[in-house]
Amino acid sequence: MVEIDNDFLCALAREAGKRALDMAENLHAELKPDQTLVTRVDREVERFLYEQLQSRYPHFAFLGEETGWHGSHDGPLWAVDPIDGTTNMVYNIPIWGVSIALLLDGEPAAGVFYIPRLDELFHAQKGQGSYCNGMRLHAPDRTTLQLEDTIGFTSAAAKNLHTKALRSRIRCLGSIAADIAYVGRGSLACLVGWSEGAYDMAAALLVAQEAGCVARYFSGQPLELKPLLTQGKTREPFIVAPPNTYELVRAELASGNL
Ligand code: IPD
Ligand code: CA
Ligand code: CA
Repeated sequence: MVEIDNDFLCALAREAGKRALDMAENLHAELKPDQTLVTRVDREVERFLYEQLQSRYPHFAFLGEETGWHGSHDGPLWAVDPIDGTTNMVYNIPIWGVSIALLLDGEPAAGVFYIPRLDELFHAQKGQGSYCNGMRLHAPDRTTLQLEDTIGFTSAAAKNLHTKALRSRIRCLGSIAADIAYVGRGSLACLVGWSEGAYDMAAALLVAQEAGCVARYFSGQPLELKPLLTQGKTREPFIVAPPNTYELVRAELASGNL
């Protein structure tokens, strides 16, 4: 039985976010080989989180976006994205944050996502509900989709899917963790994604699931994180939403792709 100190995790995400803000004037942005941006903030925050998590939970492994896998491939694993939404951070768009999740046998058991510019702290533990700044989250499900509903897309999903058949508003926020956490809060009716990794989504997925959402590919298969730990990113489009909203969005998108 793995006991996780939720207060410790929340305080850690807040402190990491504060450190990121303190460095935000001096980002040193550069391109990685995959042509995405990385900054001094991503690297320093990951190093800070690694040190803190190692010192508190020395037997747990660690997977971070910038430094990869440290430790055993069996047993508890921290899946960390030090900054999700780096491009937003570089261009001073406030939606980016620190994501920390604990995976047990590939499934998220605890997760925290903190957006420092907005001071929004999302957290969840398996079976114990999810919260944003202390408020319990319940994602509202829908029986129909309305024009004023907000449908989140990642950039890759927006570029590759035919969205014409969707009647609702489309939003592309630039942080998959924020997208998914916002579905849990009801700020987005759903999120449509395509090519995302375990460390990007793990914490926010637990937040959304504990708020009543499902995460499934268009085929109906559940989006599981465990295969992504070896495979890398999701290879098919997926939707995170409350169950009926998932069906409604999938049906509208499918009609546009005929
Ligand atoms: C990216 C963001 C973006 C998503 C990309 C991710 P990063 O994460 O979450 O919204 O569409 O696929 O890689 O690079 O800012 O950590
Ligand atoms: Ca990310
Ligand atoms: Ca990142």
